[in-house]
Amino acid sequence: MRFTAVLPVLAALAASAHAASGWASSCTGQKISGSILTANCINSSGLTTATSINLNTCLVNVFGQLGCGSEGQALKTCNDCTVSSATITCSCLKGGNSDRLRSSVDSNNCIGNRNGALTC
Ligand SMILES: *[C@@H]1O[C@H](CO)[C@@H](O)[C@H](O)[C@H]1NC(C)=O
Repeated sequence: MRFTAVLPVLAALAASAHAASGWASSCTGQKISGSILTANCINSSGLTTATSINLNTCLVNVFGQLGCGSEGQALKTCNDCTVSSATITCSCLKGGNSDRLRSSVDSNNCIGNRNGALTC
């Protein structure tokens, strides 16, 4: 009984340990074109490198609400994305019909800067 309660917590901790985070404090000039987030990020030498990442690998659309999700393929059902600091906002299909919801995610929770490269 105790194991069944503890195992999901351990799984969640293991997953969060792998998730990248906090990119926006070490990157500048961020912009989104289609599904690609581009920014200039500082690497471990203290130098700035241009880097980009396909948001389909980091974000998911859950009934119109943008969220963090590895290989979530969000940009297949979301469009018209903007980025301000770490906040990514897109228009996402709610599912079932063509209604869209304009929703945001704090991408610092799922995208990181690993030695000058955006990763998730
Ligand atoms: C940091 O970026 C600079 C410029 O792109 C590059 O020359 C250097 O090798 C990078 N340093 C590391 C540790 O990757």
